[in-house]
Formats: sequence, structure tokens, C-alpha cells
Amino acid sequence: MQTIRVDTPSAQYEVHAGSDLLESLAPRIAHAVGRLPRRVFVLTSEPIWALWGQTFCASFAEEPIALFLAPGERHKTLASVERLARQMAQAGADRGSLLIAFGGGIVGDVGGFLAAVYMRGIPYVQVPTTLLAQVDSSVGGKTGVNLPEGKNMLGSFHQPRAVFADIGVLGTLSDRELRAGLMESVKAGIIRDRLLVRFMEDHAAEVLARDAKALERTIAASIRMKAGVVNKDERESGLRMILNFGHTVGHALERVTRYRVLLHGEAIGWGMVAALAVARRRGTINQRQMDRLESLIYQYGPLPPLKLRAARIVSATGGDKKNVGGVRRFVLPVGVGDAGVVEDVSDPELKSAVEYMLARAAEVEG
Ligand SMILES: NC(=O)c1ccc[n+]([C@@H]2O[C@H](COP(=O)([O-])OP(=O)(O)OC[C@H]3O[C@@H](n4cnc5c(N)ncnc54)[C@H](O)[C@@H]3O)[C@@H](O)[C@H]2O)c1
Repeated sequence: MQTIRVDTPSAQYEVHAGSDLLESLAPRIAHAVGRLPRRVFVLTSEPIWALWGQTFCASFAEEPIALFLAPGERHKTLASVERLARQMAQAGADRGSLLIAFGGGIVGDVGGFLAAVYMRGIPYVQVPTTLLAQVDSSVGGKTGVNLPEGKNMLGSFHQPRAVFADIGVLGTLSDRELRAGLMESVKAGIIRDRLLVRFMEDHAAEVLARDAKALERTIAASIRMKAGVVNKDERESGLRMILNFGHTVGHALERVTRYRVLLHGEAIGWGMVAALAVARRRGTINQRQMDRLESLIYQYGPLPPLKLRAARIVSATGGDKKNVGGVRRFVLPVGVGDAGVVEDVSDPELKSAVEYMLARAAEVEG
């Protein structure tokens, strides 16, 4: 097991990544929060509970009260939060109660937000069950729900008391979800960890075969990268923006395909290809680095084909929540393992990078 410390102005906690954490969750959580409160709630979804509920409950003297969120982005709403909060209130939840978010990024984001607003904030613990949630969304305290007008438009920073990323639960995750989540690890390496890039290049077969050691190393390095960034910039006023590498075009791809075609990580995979193309044109990476990093992305593919027009994607980047005052922020890799944020990528420059990405996507199809 590897333990990574998050240390921000608002909270300090540990993120644990390793095997067999789920079986011994209760004492681990008790240790992290001081002692288990009288009322412990677990927010999860039916499919995850059916697969892992028994193992989850094994170490609790008294079973946590289970609350359920139906799978899918369309349930990541304020209406779900209200329904869940009412269930908690009816079950006697008070300020001293604890909420455990046990699921993928959707359960984690909704659970975190519920904990942030229930009685103005109660403690919560993240037990992420997808690779994406383990390496990214469960760490850093961003919580929230969607509006019809956009994703994650309502939210709050609310740090968990602890995170337990059990590698065993990934055993039931589909290959497609696993690969999509690994795109966030590829991202972590490209922007801040050269050694992770090298490791993922050299051990792709083991990682994709879910070898426990290879996964633990990849997951822990990704978490370490994210924690290091969050420790320096909890509220995304500067450095934390580099975590959005691949996200300007990635979010645009998700938006124009109405969140129905691509998994988040797949959109980020293509978004990283476009960002690499901008970086190559600007000379922040050389051709050898471009080839190397692009190959790494495809090693963890296949990414789905894209049947879209470049102009449509470029115009969709205008609606990104990360833009401030109409300025489009863009994260560019600088060499391998470093990145910076620029605000002056013009539409034609972006369009040519998106055309490059679409040409590569057409090769996938052909
Ligand atoms: N808060 C943050 O910092 C942050 C960062 C990145 C992404 N996100 C959010 O995360 C969400 C996406 O998360 P996700 O990719 O985990 O998707 P998800 O939560 O929808 O989970 C993907 C699917 O996998 C299933 N699943 C989960 N764990 C499983 C397991 N162990 N075995 C079998 N099936 C399992 C789920 O039921 C679901 O159908 C988005 O809403 C995104 O906005 C948040």
C-alpha cells in the first residue's frame, strides 16, 4: 500500500492506494476520522453495491446506511442531492454523521457535494471504484453537480477526511473504463512526472492486464502528482490549471457529442493529441517528444473514432467553464514532464491542431 499526504490550507488527509483495503475499511476510516460516529452513511450505486457491498460492509460492526444514486451523468443533479439529503435527514443524520462516497467519479462528486451542503458541511470519505476516480476525481476536494446549461456548474471545494483507493475493486471495471481512466495517468505523467511517462511506456502490458503492482505504481504516482499540485494551489488560482491539460478540446468533444459517445478519459485522450499539436507548432516540444507522447496515448487506447467538423469543435471550446472573461486557457506541455498555461491560442491555430487530431482519428477508423 502507498500513502500520499494532501496538505492544503483547508485540510490535511491521507490517500491510501493498494490491495485489500476494502476488507478492512471500518478500522481504517475510524483511524482517519478519530472514531466512527453513530450514524455512518454510504452513497453508492446499485451495480457497485451488488458487486462489492458485502466486502465493503465486512469490517463494520454496524452496517452503514446505504443511499443510492442511479448510474449516469444525467443523475448528477441538484435534484438527486435534495432527494439524498432528505433521506439522510429522515434517517437521523446530524452534523456528526459521516458520509462515505463509494463509487466512480459521479458518486464521488455528488457525495462530496452532499457532504459539503448537508447542515453546512459534514465529514466524508472517498472510496473510489473506477480508475478515473482513484487517480483523479477523489483527490483534491472538487465536488459538484451538473446543470442543463453545463457540467459541474454547481459545486464546492470540500476536502474528504481520507481516500481509500482499493486496486481490487478495479477487477470488475470494464476494459474501456479502465483505459479511459488511464488517460488521466498519462496526463499526469506528461504534465509533471517524466518517470511516470517512462513507467507507463515500459509497463503498458502489465498495467492493462491489471497487474496489481503495476497498477499500484501507476495509481500512486498519479495521485502523488495531483496531491502535489493541489497542495500548492487548492483553489485553482494558478498551478492547478495544468491539470486541465487535454481538457479544452476534450470538454468541447464531450459537449458536441452530448456526453453520449465518449467517456471522459477518451475525450481527454483526443484533447491531449490536439494540445500536443499546438505545443509542437509552438516549439514547446520537439518532434521526437511529440511522437513519443502521442504513442503513449495510443498505447492506452484505442480511442473511439470522431466524426466531427473542426470548426464545430473549436467553437465549442468557447463555452468552457475554465474560460474567464472570454479568454480561452490552454495547457501546453513543455518537454516531457512539465507544462504551462497560455491564453493566446488563436482560433486558426487551434483549428489546425484539431484538424491534425481529426486526421489521426480518421486513421483509427480506417
Ligand atoms: N471532482 C473532480 O476533480 C473530477 C475530476 C475528473 C472527473 N470528475 C467527474 O467524474 C465523473 C466521471 O467519473 P467516472 O469516469 O468514474 O464515471 P462513473 O462514475 O460514471 O463510473 C463509470 C461506470 O463504471 C461503473 N463502475 C464504477 N466502479 C465500478 C467497478 N468497480 N466495477 C464495475 N463497474 C463500476 C459505474 O457504475 C458507471 O457505470 C464525471 O462526472 C466527471 O465530471 C470529477
